[in-house]
Amino acid sequence: MTEIPHGLIKGVVLKRHDWTDRLFSLFVEAPINAYQAGQFTKLALLNDKGDWVRRAYSIVNTPEHIEGRERMEFLIIADQKGELSPCLQKLNSGDEIFVGKDASGFMTIDEVPKNADDFWLLSTGTAIGPFISILETPELEIRFKNFVLVHAVRTESELIYQQRIEQLSKRYNKRFHYVPIVSREYVSGALCGRIPSLLLNGELEKRAELQLSKTSSFLYICGNPNMVKDTSDALKELGFEKHLRRKLGQFSSENYW
Ligand SMILES: Cc1cc2nc3c(=O)[nH]c(=O)nc-3n(C[C@H](O)[C@H](O)[C@H](O)COP(=O)(O)OP(=O)(O)OC[C@H]3O[C@@H](n4cnc5c(N)ncnc54)[C@H](O)[C@@H]3O)c2cc1C
Ligand SMILES: NC(=O)c1ccc[n+]([C@@H]2O[C@H](COP(=O)([O-])OP(=O)(O)OC[C@H]3O[C@@H](n4cnc5c(N)ncnc54)[C@H](OP(=O)(O)O)[C@@H]3O)[C@@H](O)[C@H]2O)c1
Repeated sequence: MTEIPHGLIKGVVLKRHDWTDRLFSLFVEAPINAYQAGQFTKLALLNDKGDWVRRAYSIVNTPEHIEGRERMEFLIIADQKGELSPCLQKLNSGDEIFVGKDASGFMTIDEVPKNADDFWLLSTGTAIGPFISILETPELEIRFKNFVLVHAVRTESELIYQQRIEQLSKRYNKRFHYVPIVSREYVSGALCGRIPSLLLNGELEKRAELQLSKTSSFLYICGNPNMVKDTSDALKELGFEKHLRRKLGQFSSENYW
C-alpha cells in the first residue's frame, strides 16, 4: 500500500445520503484533531495512477454533536468533470477514505467582532454546511440577538436540511430567520433571483424581517466565488466594509473554488 501522505489519516465511510442525483452527504469516521464549527478539512483518495487527490470540504456538524467529533458529515456536490467529487459520490458504507488530521479556516464564531449582535450567514449550494455547523453550536443563542440564514440554490430540490432548519427555528424562536432563494424555478415561500440584487433592492432584508446595520450586523459569505465577489461589491455599495483583523468591518467570506 502506498504510504499515506503527511497530514492525512485513514478514515471509514459510515454512510452516504443522496439528496439529489449530484448532491450528497458523506458521513465519515476518522480520528481527527479538535476543530471549530465552520472549519473545513481535506478528503482524499488515490486515483487510478496511484496519485493522491485531495480537496477541501467543510464539516457540517459541530464538534460537540452527540456522536462525537470523530464522526463527521460532509455535504458535497459532484462535478461530473471534476477529479475527486465524482469518486466521493461512489463511496459506500465501509469504504476507506483519507481525511486531513487538522481542520482549518477562519470562518468561525471566534473571528466575529464582539460588537456584532445580528449574525447573517449568506450561502450558495453546499456552503450551507459550515453555517449549519455554526448555528448548531451550543450556547450560540447567548452570543447573538438575531440569526439570518440565507441559502441560495438553483432548484427547490437543493433546499436541503429542512428538518434541521426547523429545529434551529424552534431553538432560536423569533430570533432566527431563514431565507431560501431559488434562482431557476419559481418556488412558493422562496425568494427568486440572486443574493447581490436581493440585497441591493431591499428584498432580502424585507424577507428576513431584519435591517442590516453598520454598527450591529456581521455577515459571513460562503460558496460560489462569483457570488462572494458580487455580494461583497453589493455590500460595499451599501456602505459596509470587509472585516480585517487589523480593521473592524462588517463582512468576511470564504470561496469554495
Ligand atoms: C475552503 C473550501 C471548502 C470547501 N468545502 C466544500 C464543501 O463543503 N462541499 C463541496 O462540495 N465542495 C467544497 N469545496 C470545493 C471542493 O474542495 C472541490 O473543489 C470540489 O469538490 C471539486 O473538486 P473536484 O476534484 O471534483 O473537481 P476539480 O477537478 O478540482 O475541478 C472542477 C471544477 O469545478 C469548479 N468547482 C470546484 N468546486 C466546486 C463546487 N463546490 N461547486 C461548484 N463548482 C466547483 C471549479 O471551477 C473547478 O475548476 C470547498 C473548497 C474550499 C476551498
Ligand atoms: N445544481 C445543479 O443542478 C447543477 C447542474 C449541473 C452542474 N452543476 C455543477 O455543480 C457545481 C455547483 O453547483 P451549485 O448549483 O451548487 O452552485 P452554483 O452554480 O454556485 O449555484 C448556486 C446559486 O448561486 C447562484 N449564483 C451563481 N453565480 C452567482 C453570482 N455571481 N452572484 C450571485 N449568485 C450567484 C446561482 O444562481 P444562478 O442560477 O442565477 O446561476 C444559484 O442560485 C457547479 O460547478 C455546477 O456547474 C450543478
